[in-house]
Amino acid sequence: MFEEIIRCPTSALLFGVIVGLLVLRFINSSFSLRERRAPPGPRPLPLFGNLFQVDLKRLDQSLFNLSEKYGPVFQVFFGPKKVVVLAGYRTVKQALVNHADEFGNREISPVFYDFTKGHGILFSNGEPWKEMRRFALTTLRDFGMGRKISEEIIIEECHYLTEEFEQFEEKAFNNTKAIHYAASNVISALMFGKRFEYKDLVFQAMVERDNETIHLTGSASLQIYNICPWLGPLLKNWRDMIKNVEDGKADATKIIKNLKETLDPEICRCFVDAFLIRKKHLEDSKVLNLHYHDENLLYTVANLFAAGTDTTATTLKWCLLYMAKFPHVQERVQEELSRVVGSRQVRTEDRKNLPYTDAVIHESQRLANIVPMALPHAISKDVTFQGYFIKEGTTVFPLLTSVLYDETEWENPYSFSPSHFLDSEGKFIRRDAFMPFSAGRRACLGESLARTEIFLFFTSLLQHFRFTPPPGVSEDQLDLTPVVGVTLAPTPQNLCAFRRH
Ligand code: HEM
Ligand SMILES: *[C@@H]1O[C@H](CO)[C@@H](O)[C@H](O)[C@H]1NC(C)=O
Ligand SMILES: *[C@@H]1O[C@H](CO)[C@@H](O)[C@H](O)[C@H]1NC(C)=O
Ligand SMILES: *[C@@H]1O[C@H](CO)[C@@H](O)[C@H](O)[C@H]1NC(C)=O
Repeated sequence: MFEEIIRCPTSALLFGVIVGLLVLRFINSSFSLRERRAPPGPRPLPLFGNLFQVDLKRLDQSLFNLSEKYGPVFQVFFGPKKVVVLAGYRTVKQALVNHADEFGNREISPVFYDFTKGHGILFSNGEPWKEMRRFALTTLRDFGMGRKISEEIIIEECHYLTEEFEQFEEKAFNNTKAIHYAASNVISALMFGKRFEYKDLVFQAMVERDNETIHLTGSASLQIYNICPWLGPLLKNWRDMIKNVEDGKADATKIIKNLKETLDPEICRCFVDAFLIRKKHLEDSKVLNLHYHDENLLYTVANLFAAGTDTTATTLKWCLLYMAKFPHVQERVQEELSRVVGSRQVRTEDRKNLPYTDAVIHESQRLANIVPMALPHAISKDVTFQGYFIKEGTTVFPLLTSVLYDETEWENPYSFSPSHFLDSEGKFIRRDAFMPFSAGRRACLGESLARTEIFLFFTSLLQHFRFTPPPGVSEDQLDLTPVVGVTLAPTPQNLCAFRRH
C-alpha cells in the first residue's frame, strides 16, 4: 500500500501535502496552546468554584497564601466567576504600569453599577472615565498647588479637630467620628466651598450614610447579588443600600442646586463651580462634549466623597493607634517636631525637614494596608501576560497586600519599622514597593491631597497631644488586628489624648 502510493506521483504529492498539513497543524496548535495557557490555580468545584479554599473573612491574606503555591499570576473562582490575582511587587507593577492599557479598566459589578450607572470616575470606563478623571485631576491640582487652597482648608480643619479632642480632657474617648468628620469636611470644602459643624445633624447623617453604604457593599448578601442580580429586590441589604444612595443623591443635588443659582462665572468657589463653568464654556463655544452633564457632576462629586473620606480617616486612626502602641516612636516624632517646627502651625513645606516623621507616616500606611486588594480591575483587551493568556473582560485583583508585605522588598514586612524609609544617616528614602495608592492608569486620583491631609492632621495632633492606651490597658494589649470591610480599619478601641503644653 505504502509502496503503491510512492510509486504513483500524484498520490505521493497528495500524501506529502497531507503530512505537511498535519505537521503544520500540530505545530500551530501546540503553539497556540502555549499562547492560550490559562494561569494556574486551585481546582474549582462546580457551582461553588474555590469558595471553600479561601477565607472570605481575610480574603487578601488567603489569596496571598495561595500565591506561594501557584505563583504571582493565578486564577480563582468565586462561584462561577473567574478572577485573576496578581501578587508581588514586580508582577503588580509590570501589569499595572507596563501593561497599563490592558489592565486599566474597572470591573463594574452590579452593585457598583447601582451607585453611578457607569458615570463618574470610580466605576466608569472608556471616554467618560478619561474625561472626568482628567477634569478632576486638573481641578484638584488647581486648588492644591497653584493657590494653596487645600492646604489652608486642611489647616483650618486641624484646629477644629484639635478642639474636639481637647473636650475629652485626657479621658479615654472614641476618636472615630471626629476623624471622619474632619476628613469629610476637607472634601466638602473642596467640592462645595463649605465645611460643616461636627454637631450638625444633617452632616452627621450624611457621613453615617456613606459609612453604612460601604459596610453594606461588603456584606455577604450583596456579594450574592453581584452573582445573581435578579435577587436584588428580595435582599434587605440591597434595598437599604439603594435607599442610602438615593438619599445621598438628594442631599448633594440640593447643595448643587444652590451653587448653580448663585454661580458667578468669574469667581470659582469650589469643584462644583469649576464643573459648571467648564460646562458653560463648552456650551457657549458650541463644542460638542457630551460628558459635562448633571449626572456626571453629581456622581463625580459623590465618588470623591466616597473615595476620599473613609480612606483618609482610617489611615489617620491607624497612625494614632501605632503611636499609642509604640510610645518610643511617638516620642521621637514629637522630639523632631519640637526641634524643627516648635509650636507654630506645621506646613507642607516642613515635610522635607521632618524625615523621621515622614518615615513613620509611610510605615503606618504600609503596615495598615487599608485597601488590600485595590478596587477590582478588568482586562480591556485580550492579553498574554507572563506567558498566560487572559481574556478581555476578566476580573483582576491587584493584591496590594502582597506588594506592601513583599518579603523580597521589605526587611521586616510584618512589623512596624520606620527604618524601612530611612537610610543609615536618618534621611528619608522612597521605596518603590510603597504602593498603598496602587499604580498605573487607575491609581488613586486623590493621592497628593491624601498625603497632604495625613501629614498635616498627624503632625498637628502630635504637636498638641500624646496618645496613650486607656488607663488600665497596656500598650501590649492594644489590638492591631484589622476589622475587614472594603477597607481594613483598626479594631474599635478608645485612646487617651494628653495635652503636651
Ligand atoms: C489614604 C488615603 C487614600 C488611599 C490609601 C487611597 C487608595 C486608593 C486605591 C488603592 C485606589 C484604587 C486604585 C486601583 O484600582 O488600582 C484608589 C482609587 C481612587 N481614589 Fe483613592 N485613596 C485615598 C484617598 C483618596 C482621596 C482623598 C481621594 C479624593 C479626593 C481619592 C480618590 C480616588 C478616586 C477618584 C479613585 C478612583 C480612580 C479611578 O478609578 O480612576 N482617594 N484610591
Ligand atoms: C496564611 O498562611 C499562614 C501561614 O501558613 C497562616 O497562619 C494563616 O492563617 C493563613 N491565612 C489565611 C487567611 O488563610
Ligand atoms: C460605620 O459603621 C460601622 C458598622 O455599621 C461601625 O462599626 C463604624 O464604627 C462606623 N463608622 C463611623 C465613622 O461611624
Ligand atoms: C467608636 O465609635 C464607632 C462609631 O460610632 C463605633 O463603631 C465603635 O465601636 C466605637 N468604639 C468603641 C471602642 O466603642
